[in-house]
Amino acid sequence: MIPCVAVDGPDAMGRRLLLVGCGKMGGALLAGWLDSEIAARIDVVDPAPAVGPAAAQHPAVRVAAAPDGVPADADPEVVVLAVKPQAMESVLPAYRRFAGRAAFLSVAAGKSIGWLQGRLGAEAAVVRAIPNTPAAIGRGISVLTASPQASPAQRDLCDRLLAAVGRVEWVADERVMDAATALSGSGPAYVFLLMETLARAGAELGLPTDLAGRLARETVTGAAALAAVELVPVAGMLAHEHDHAGAGVARWRPLDIGEPPLVAEPAAAGEEPWHPALGGEPQAVHDLVEIVAHRDGDHIVEVEHGCHLSRAVPGPTRPG
Ligand SMILES: NC(=O)c1ccc[n+]([C@@H]2O[C@H](COP(=O)([O-])OP(=O)(O)OC[C@H]3O[C@@H](n4cnc5c(N)ncnc54)[C@H](OP(=O)(O)O)[C@@H]3O)[C@@H](O)[C@H]2O)c1
Repeated sequence: MIPCVAVDGPDAMGRRLLLVGCGKMGGALLAGWLDSEIAARIDVVDPAPAVGPAAAQHPAVRVAAAPDGVPADADPEVVVLAVKPQAMESVLPAYRRFAGRAAFLSVAAGKSIGWLQGRLGAEAAVVRAIPNTPAAIGRGISVLTASPQASPAQRDLCDRLLAAVGRVEWVADERVMDAATALSGSGPAYVFLLMETLARAGAELGLPTDLAGRLARETVTGAAALAAVELVPVAGMLAHEHDHAGAGVARWRPLDIGEPPLVAEPAAAGEEPWHPALGGEPQAVHDLVEIVAHRDGDHIVEVEHGCHLSRAVPGPTRPG
């Protein structure tokens, strides 16, 4: 996290934000901002915002279906860009007028600072963030990087906007943002894949399907909670767990853990895939799971499970 510069002062109560795109991620951010009372006014632009009645009717929130519906007094300090990466090209021109006073905070995967400044102006103050979906319950983790044009106060405000939905990490080198997208941005999908694998394996080994689902959910969430409090480095968690496992009982053994996948939103028909590292269709990860049970007579002694995921190396960010 960058050193904090105090921005909460006499004018903090008058803070104004503009949120462009209020779907899964924009909606999570909006909910976090309302909970933390971080802004006095939040203008939202989205044809059909994914917000509950509490947010839609909140006195701080005004919703417009299109940029020409943004009230003239909006005057945001930060314009938060949370539309799909494929939509950015057509969305950005309408917000270029805010460059100067406002910083732009983009959560779009794969859109570099240079690419954004190419549409918003070379001197636009841009902060890039990669959050993840646990932001919806305030348990996200976001990686941020900023253009030199973003002032310390603007960086700090963007830090606070993401900290309202979880933890925040900063990187100086924008080139690692693709790797963060693969690890934490797409990571929840990988965890859900593991959960699904466990449940499916359990059902295939004889457990009732609904019980297998409950066991898988509680195992993954319980293990995640344990990982959060165990003072064991991530690289040592597996060995630590094996220290506790009894010999000769059925247990899970990783068969072939692949690299974390880059999970992409599918490109619309006829569109280029948005992420340069993907270069094709989203990965059919569910077809890549293998489960092997080793038996001694009727007794299962060991279960191996693996996700054979081919390594998707993040490529250079698409040039602007
Ligand atoms: N979801 C994740 O795990 C995740 C993680 C990291 C980063 N991100 C980034 O977050 C951004 C949003 O992703 P998301 O998952 O939240 O997608 P989403 O649920 O589809 O949200 C995008 C929202 O933008 C709206 N929209 C479309 N065109 C618009 C326009 N011209 N002006 C204003 N709003 C418009 C969409 O409305 P319609 O549905 O009506 O089109 C939708 O409500 C993406 O850039 C993504 O890369 C997402």
